[in-house]
Amino acid sequence: MAMHEAVLLRRRGAEQRNLKAYVASGGLAALAKARAIGPEETVRILTDSGLVGRGGAAFPAGRKWESVRTAKDPIRYVVLNTDESEPGTFKDRVMIESDPFMVLEGLLIACYAVSATGAYIYVRGEYGRVADLLQQSLRELQQAGHLEGIEPQGRPLRVEIRRGGGAYICGEETALFRSIEGYRGEPMAKPPFPTVAGLFRKPTVVNNVETIANVPDIIAFGAKALRSRGTERSPGTKLFSVSGHVARPDTYEVPFGTPLSELLQMAGGEADLQAVLMGGAAGTFVFPKDFDLALSYEGVAERHTTLGSGAVIAFNRQTNLWQVAERLGRFFAHESCGQCVPCRVGTRRQHEMLATLAAGRGQGDERGLLLRLSQVMTDASICGLGQTAATAVRSLMDAESAGLLAH
Ligand SMILES: Cc1cc2nc3c(=O)[nH]c(=O)nc-3n(C[C@H](O)[C@H](O)[C@H](O)COP(=O)(O)O)c2cc1C
Ligand code: SF4
Repeated sequence: MAMHEAVLLRRRGAEQRNLKAYVASGGLAALAKARAIGPEETVRILTDSGLVGRGGAAFPAGRKWESVRTAKDPIRYVVLNTDESEPGTFKDRVMIESDPFMVLEGLLIACYAVSATGAYIYVRGEYGRVADLLQQSLRELQQAGHLEGIEPQGRPLRVEIRRGGGAYICGEETALFRSIEGYRGEPMAKPPFPTVAGLFRKPTVVNNVETIANVPDIIAFGAKALRSRGTERSPGTKLFSVSGHVARPDTYEVPFGTPLSELLQMAGGEADLQAVLMGGAAGTFVFPKDFDLALSYEGVAERHTTLGSGAVIAFNRQTNLWQVAERLGRFFAHESCGQCVPCRVGTRRQHEMLATLAAGRGQGDERGLLLRLSQVMTDASICGLGQTAATAVRSLMDAESAGLLAH
């Protein structure tokens, strides 16, 4: 099994986690460089690096930044999405707990690069320690004067930390904006996209924690630094939250392109796993015949699965995967914001049928109905929650037809 050098998580477990220690280990050099080369060149380096957003939608980070940098409206925002509510996903928490200053340096570079007039960090309600750590680290940066000279009008940059109220949907970018604005966290139809009309209807960059954590090294060492690892279309490393039936559940950092089997081996996965759920509740079940798949955006697309939020949940052969699907169905029915009918009603009906199947009380027509329902939810829901609420169920039905289930 190859050993992979930690890049994003290289300061994990460091004895000292304060600004002085961060600067002593090369921290803040990237922010200084960005200030020296200016916003346009900073965004160009990011674009050249090929950095892809790690929040699930895999959108190129440079394209987002450039749209906001060149926006006509002088009021712009940067939002750090720290909601991390996808089941089985905990890599953003580990990233921040390991290196809060690297994440905040990335955020300050983003603000400088797009001439942001304000920034928000939206933290999952249950992540109290993460919010405290960010607040304390932010205070250290502020006291040392690092929030000066970023805001285009010369005021000290205002970075606000907001706590979620426990709703999964508030990780969806437009629901997140509504929540910060003081409304119910309900998604809005897109377009307009956040880069055009985001937070307070102003041009906004919204990025995931892991995306932003990649920024300091890219700016400090150049676009090639990211491209020196991973694949042509998926440059860099990726954090995976591995949990379930493995001996060492944890966050693992591997270069893109690493086989799934190797990641499972690193986590001490059993030899006879039945399946893994890739990408969280909105992902798909992957079975041993596909464990050789390459963990890159192109590698998962080839096998009709997704990296999603970077969650990998392992299940042994004793697990009844229909019971797992019932649990996922309950999650979606509970977390649907209720704004649109296909999702509000669809997730409930889906859960009822999954409960019937999990209890072994199927009448025979549930699978056909689940399939039709999944098509409606996918095609007609407003946002990603409803559009992906049946993805795992569909992959389970395919696996059942192929005779891959242990139960
Ligand atoms: C239901 C739902 C929940 C989401 N939750 C999160 C989340 O917790 N964290 C996150 O970064 N992105 C989440 N996203 C994706 C965001 O909408 C958005 O694409 C992402 O924050 C953009 O950052 P990136 O370009 O750096 O990936 C979610 C999307 C949906 C549809
Ligand atoms: S798809 Fe679901 S979560 Fe998204 S807006 Fe519609 S009801 Fe709300």
